Amino acid sequence: MANDNKNLTIAVIQARMSSTRLPGKVLHKLDGKPVLTWVIESAKKIEGVDKIIVATSNDKSDDVIAKFCKSNSVDVFRGHLEDVLSRFAAIARKYKPKYMLRITADCPLLDSGVAAQVLQLLKTTKSDYTSNTAPPTWPNGLDVEAFTSSALLKADKAAKGDFFREHLTSYIYSNRQSFKISNLECPLPGLANERWTLDTEEDLLFLKEVTKRLRKNKFKSYISVLEILDKEPKLRKINSNLIRNESTIIKSIPKRITNFKNSAKLLTQAEKLIPLGSQTFSKSKLQFPVGHAPLFLTHGEGSNVWDVDGNKYIDLINGLLPVVLGYNDPDINYAIKSQIDNGISFSLATKLEYDLAQRLVDIIPCAEKVRFGKNGSDVTSAAIRLARAYTGRDRVIVCGYHGWHDWYIGSTTRKKGVPKAVQDLTHTVAYNDLESVEKLLQNYKNEFAAMIMEPINFAPPQGNYLKDLQNLLKKSGVVLIFDEIVSGFRMALGGGQEYLGITPDLATFGKAMGNGMPISAVTGRADIMNEMEEIFFSGTFGGETLSLAAAIALIDKLKSHNVIKTIWSTGNKVKQEIQKLIDQNKLAEYVVLKGHAPLSLVELKGNNNIEVPMLRTLFIKEMVANGILINSTNNISFAHNKLDILKITEAYSTTFKKMAKVICQGNISEELNGVIIQPVFKVR
Ligand SMILES: Cc1ncc(COP(=O)(O)O)c(C=O)c1O
Repeated sequence: MANDNKNLTIAVIQARMSSTRLPGKVLHKLDGKPVLTWVIESAKKIEGVDKIIVATSNDKSDDVIAKFCKSNSVDVFRGHLEDVLSRFAAIARKYKPKYMLRITADCPLLDSGVAAQVLQLLKTTKSDYTSNTAPPTWPNGLDVEAFTSSALLKADKAAKGDFFREHLTSYIYSNRQSFKISNLECPLPGLANERWTLDTEEDLLFLKEVTKRLRKNKFKSYISVLEILDKEPKLRKINSNLIRNESTIIKSIPKRITNFKNSAKLLTQAEKLIPLGSQTFSKSKLQFPVGHAPLFLTHGEGSNVWDVDGNKYIDLINGLLPVVLGYNDPDINYAIKSQIDNGISFSLATKLEYDLAQRLVDIIPCAEKVRFGKNGSDVTSAAIRLARAYTGRDRVIVCGYHGWHDWYIGSTTRKKGVPKAVQDLTHTVAYNDLESVEKLLQNYKNEFAAMIMEPINFAPPQGNYLKDLQNLLKKSGVVLIFDEIVSGFRMALGGGQEYLGITPDLATFGKAMGNGMPISAVTGRADIMNEMEEIFFSGTFGGETLSLAAAIALIDKLKSHNVIKTIWSTGNKVKQEIQKLIDQNKLAEYVVLKGHAPLSLVELKGNNNIEVPMLRTLFIKEMVANGILINSTNNISFAHNKLDILKITEAYSTTFKKMAKVICQGNISEELNGVIIQPVFKVR
C-alpha cells in the first residue's frame, strides 16, 4: 500500500440494488455475510490497490448501499444509474488515480490474487486495458478489469449510445485499434464454463452452498472453490443451465446499424492497392452492398464480430465456414500459443504431423494415409493429380465447388485465364444426376480418372444415388473423391461420409479443420495415397506447426465437447424459426430454405419484376441493420447460444416483414438507393 500519489490505484466496486433478475442481490447474505461484504473483503486484499470505492447510483433505490458503506467505513461514490461510464469517469476526475480496477458487486468469490495479477499485467505490458475475460478462460465470477484512468477518460469522451455508456469498458474493447489491450489467461484449462457469479435465484442457491462449505475449508483462492466443486460435482448442477454474461448479451442487441463510413473509406484506400479490396471473392464488395454493410472487420469473440465502424454483429458467415467453434476459442488459442514458443516452421517434419494424421485416420472412415495442405484448393488439386497418376487417365467429373485451380475453375463461368486444353478435360454434372455420369462414362470410355463431388450440400441425396454412383464409378475404374471441405468437421466427426454411410476412395478436408488456421488434408485408400511418393505435392508450409497444433486441439474439442451435436441442435432451431417466418410472411414464392442444420441456405427467387440480386441486396442490408452478418447461408458455430438464436430470429422476422412489404409495394429500387450487389457466381 506504499504507492505514491502519482501511481494511485483505486479498486472501484460497481454496485446497485436494481437488478432485473435478482433485485437487491448485492445485500443478500452468504454464510451470514452480505455479498457486498464478501467483495469488499477480497478487494482489500488485492496487492497494489491503495483505495477502495463502492460506486453506486444516485437513484433512491441505492440509498441502502450508501448507508451500508457508511456503516462499514467504506468510501462510496454516487453517480448516474444507467451511464456507468460517466460514474467511473467522475471518480477518475475526482481522485486522479493512474490505474483503476473495476470489480462488480455480484462476484462474491472474487480472488484477490487473480485481481492482483490482472493489475500487474496492465502495468508490465503498459496496456491501456487488461482483463481476464476476453476470451473467457476463468470461472464466470472472477471477472476483473484494470485500466488506466486516461484510457477511461478517452472512452468517456468518445463513447456514444446507451450500450457503450452502460457497459463501462465496451467502448474500449470494441475499439481495440485505439487502445492497447491485454488479457490474463487462466493457467488451468476448462474452467470457462464454471458459473460463480450472482444473477439469479439459482446462482444464489449455488453460492450459499459453496460459501457454507468455504467456512470450514477457508477461502484462500479460487482453488478452494474448485476443491469443493470437484469433491461435490452435483453442486454445479444448481445453476449450470445459465449462459455466461446473459444480461450483457440481451442488452447488446443493437438498435439498427446504419453507419458503415469507415468501411466505405477503407475500401476506397484498399482498392488502390488491392484488386477488389479483398483476398476472397465472397468477402469482397461484389457480395456486400457498399454503404449498407460492413466490408472490414477488426475482431471476433465467440459468435460475435466487430467492424471498423465499431458495429457488433452475430456472425453467420464465420469466415466462410472455418470458424466452427467460434472466434477467439480459448482451447485453440492455448494450443497455438503453446506451440508458438517452440517455433512455427521447421527444417524437417515434426511429430505433430503424425499426431494429426493419427487423429484423422481414427475418425474418418476412408482415411488410411494422410497428407496436409494449406487451402481446400491445395488438396482437391492433389487428389485429382493422385487419381490421374493412379489411373493413367486425364478426364475428371466435378460436382460442386472445388477451388480456384485451373483444372476446376476452367469448368465454370470464371474461366478467364485457363487454357482451353485444360478446360476440355473437366466435365460438370449436377448433384443427384446419375444419368449424366453414365453418359459421360459411355462417351469417353476409359478416359475418366476421377469424379470429385461434395458428398452432400444443400440438397440431400435422392434414393440410392450415392451408392449407385459409387458402383458405377467402381465398374469403370474411376476414383471417387469426396470433397469434404465444407461437410468435414461439421456434418459428423468423420464428415459427410460418416453421416451418409458411404466411404469414398479419397477425401479432402479444409475449412473447419483448424477453426480458422490455414490447414487442409487429403486422405483415403493407402494404395492410391502411396502415389504421393511418385507425384509432386509439396510446399514450404505444408508442415507449419501452429495450424497442426490448432487442428489437433480442434479434433479433441469436437470430441470432448460434443460440438457437432450442439451445432445440429442450434441449426435445427434456427431452421425451424426461419421456416415459420417464411410461412407467416407468405414469402414461399421468394424465399426457400434449403440445406441441413449445420449449414442451411436461404435461397432467394426472383421473377419478372424483382431480380434475385436486388432481393439479396435487400436481404443482406436488413439482416446487417439488425445486427446479423450474413451472406446467404446460416453457418452455425458452437459459439452460437440460445440468445443468439433469439436475436437471429428477431432479425429474420424484421427482414422478412420488410421484404414482404417492399415486394407488395413494388418499390424495391427506391429502397436500395441504387446499390445492388452482383449476381452470385453459381457453381452448385
Ligand atoms: C467444397 C469446397 N471445396 C473446395 C474449396 C476450396 O477451398 P479453399 O478456398 O480453402 O481453397 C471450397 C471453398 O469454398 C469448398 O467450398
